[in-house]
Parts: sequence; C-alpha cells; structure tokens
Amino acid sequence: MLKLLIVVTGLLLPTLGWAAGGGHTFPQDKIEIDWDDKAAMQRGARTFVNYCMSCHSAAYSRFNRVGEDLGIPDEMVRENLIFTTDVNGEKTKVGELMKITMTPAYAEQAFGTVPPDLSLVARSRGVNWLYNYLRGFYVDDSRVGLGVNNGVFSNVGMPHVLAELQGLQVPKYKTQDDGHGNEREVIAGFDIIKEGTLTKSEYDKTIYELVAFLDYLAEPYKQTRKNVGTGVIIFLFVFLILAYALKKEYWKDVH
Ligand code: HEC
Repeated sequence: MLKLLIVVTGLLLPTLGWAAGGGHTFPQDKIEIDWDDKAAMQRGARTFVNYCMSCHSAAYSRFNRVGEDLGIPDEMVRENLIFTTDVNGEKTKVGELMKITMTPAYAEQAFGTVPPDLSLVARSRGVNWLYNYLRGFYVDDSRVGLGVNNGVFSNVGMPHVLAELQGLQVPKYKTQDDGHGNEREVIAGFDIIKEGTLTKSEYDKTIYELVAFLDYLAEPYKQTRKNVGTGVIIFLFVFLILAYALKKEYWKDVH
C-alpha cells in the first residue's frame, strides 16, 4: 500500500510542478467563446488565412466546409480565404483541405522546427492559453534572428507575425516568492514601446476572434452536437409524459 502511495505521488508531482510553473506565465487572461457569434469567427478565419497559413496548415478542414459552417458563400471563400495555389499553379479549389505550400524540410531549415498543424490546437492547448500566447510576444534582443520571446511559451521558435497590428511591447517585472523562500523575477505586465496599427482593445478583439475560429476548427460539430443534445432531451421528456400516461391507462383496471 505504502509503495503504491509513493508511486502515485511520484507520478503526480511533476504535474503539480508544471502547474506551478504555468502560474508564472503572463498574461493570464480568460475568455469565453460565443459560439453564436459567427461573424466573429468569420473575421477570425480571415486573420488566420492572412497571418498564419503561410506557416501553419489546418489540414483536417476543407475551405468550403468552413464556409458552410460559418455562413460564407463559396464565391466569398474563394476570394477572401484562399491565397494558396495547387501543384499546377492554379488557385486552390474550395473543396480542398486547408494545407500549406511550405514543405516541412524548408520550415525545419528556416525555423529550426516545423510549425505544427493548428486544426486541433484549441483542444490541445485550450482557448485561454492561445489567447494569452498570441498576446504575449515581447521584445528580447537575446533571441537571435527572432528578436522576441513569449510570456506563455518561453523561447518559442515562432516570430511575432502580428507585430504590425499589436506593435512591440516589453515586459514589466516584479519579484515573487517561488514558494520555497526564494525570490524570483516574473513578468507582471507589458508596456508598448512601439505602436501597432491597432489599439490594445482592438488587438485583443482580433485575437479573441482568431481564437474563436481556432476553437470552431477544433470541433466543427460542437454547435450541431449541442442542438442535437437539446432535441434529444426534449424528445425524452415528451416520451416520459407519454409513457406515464400509458402506464396509468394500463393499470387503471388492475387497481
Ligand atoms: C513565419 C512562420 C509562422 C507564422 C506565420 C505563424 N507561426 Fe505559429 N509557429 C511557428 C513555429 C516555427 C512554431 C513552433 C514554435 C516552437 O515549437 O518553438 C509555431 C508555433 C505556434 C503555436 C504553438 C503550437 C503548440 O501547441 O506548440 C501556435 C498556437 C501558433 N504557432 C499559432 C499561430 C497563429 C495563430 C498564427 C497566425 C496569427 C501563427 N502561428 C503564425 C511559425 C509561424
């Protein structure tokens, strides 16, 4: 029994450590995705194809499926969401998967790592993590070639591709007890040192919409599932009343 306890504690400890480590990341804001706001998801899709799909694919989704789910007609999908070409140099068709042209070998050479497919990232990382990650890039001259670091994903290999929108920021530090009596520096916030084209609240909104789109992408059936769920509950309820009425009818003569 004692042995088992030690093993279990041993297994749990790293997760505790990780959770504590996670507590030092910044920013730590939380969002709630509004699944009824399709317009926000459409704008998020636009940001995604413009700013992310040069490096990241979303290869589990098709352009026209996204259009259908978010209420964008094929013609508009073709004009506003597709910027890639197929092997023959023709514009990618609306029925194609959201793949990218960059090869993994090239990416490896350019970034030292291959940018992961983002189809399921909202599920693996969670929407809050994404929201903070995309707002957490800061100037760090020690990062050769990139010039930035990230408060949520330390020493990340991704450049700050939204710098033109957000501008550039530097961290404000504060000292904090690490729980073992040692003081350590943690990021407490950011100061903008170079304005971008968006204000802070506009940038936050843009990122919220982008994350809302990624959340949709990771679970395109969520809305349908919810609707079906409600339908099933209503059906069961009606059925319960019928069954009860029937039971009364059958037992009427027995009593
Ligand atoms: C210039 C290429 C490039 C562009 C453009 C780009 N990224 Fe990245 N991204 C990367 C690389 C490289 C990594 C891997 C970083 C690492 O592991 O250190 C990455 C990692 C990520 C991760 C972390 C994935 C994980 O779970 O580890 C997320 C999320 C992400 N990118 C989102 C985005 C979004 C959203 C956009 C569009 C706003 C975007 N990226 C644009 C290159 C890019």
